[in-house]
Amino acid sequence: AAYTNVERAEEDEARADLLNHKAAAYLAAAAQETGATLIHVSTDYVFDGTGHRPYTEAMATSPLGAYGRTKLAGEEAVKASGCRYLILRTAWLYSEYGNNFLKTMLRLTSERETLRVVFDQVGTPTYAGDLALAIFSLIEAGRYTGNEGVYHFTDEGVCSWYDFAVEIAAAAGHDTCRIIPCHTSEYPTKATRPAYSVLDKTRFKETFQMDIPHWREALIYCMKRLQRQ
Ligand SMILES: NC(=O)c1ccc[n+]([C@@H]2O[C@H](COP(=O)([O-])OP(=O)(O)OC[C@H]3O[C@@H](n4cnc5c(N)ncnc54)[C@H](OP(=O)(O)O)[C@@H]3O)[C@@H](O)[C@H]2O)c1
Repeated sequence: AAYTNVERAEEDEARADLLNHKAAAYLAAAAQETGATLIHVSTDYVFDGTGHRPYTEAMATSPLGAYGRTKLAGEEAVKASGCRYLILRTAWLYSEYGNNFLKTMLRLTSERETLRVVFDQVGTPTYAGDLALAIFSLIEAGRYTGNEGVYHFTDEGVCSWYDFAVEIAAAAGHDTCRIIPCHTSEYPTKATRPAYSVLDKTRFKETFQMDIPHWREALIYCMKRLQRQ
């Protein structure tokens, strides 16, 4: 559970803080009391995205907006609680469930003749099922014990939102919609997004010895599941 509306968080930081920071602190306190390990999901938005190399866990955080600030405060509360924890920072989540970029692009590319999508924000689309499976696997194998700390987890590869949209339309066979790359500055928003938020997953892969699918492969898998629904 999290306050994930990045735009609304700018005007509602107190509420975003309640969920992304204080609630995480309560969970961490409960984990500390009971001796449980807390697996906490965090975000690439803790970084400002001014870098040009994949972000490692050791790199300095510097959130650009209220969502990232409150998520970072949540991370810090978990760390300060004294509980055993794994903080998994992820990014660009989508799945066959709920509302997300994949669902929006499937709808818009079926309705419109043209669609403008930003090409100057770069990251890694991540199938929520891959994150869930990674968490499930490390719990099942008992690998959380002795491996506490912060980890980065996304699918493999790198692309822009524009590339992701093109791939979604192609996979869905929506070939009548022309997708046009545009700059972030053409779509002013309340919250500033990191321009580059590729996460370096080396620590996760070396610690837990897990293979992670490429985002394109994961997209096709998710689309097949969506079609079966
Ligand atoms: N989406 C991304 O691209 C992304 C990227 C990086 C990290 N993350 C992190 O990944 C996690 C999941 O994000 P998501 O995008 O999957 O979120 P989401 O689709 O917005 O889902 C958030 C969940 O939180 C629940 N929730 C919200 N407010 C609540 C409250 N006051 N009490 C109890 N439950 C509440 C919602 O319940 P209802 O369904 O009942 O509303 C929903 O199940 C979060 O920690 C987020 O910060 C997400």
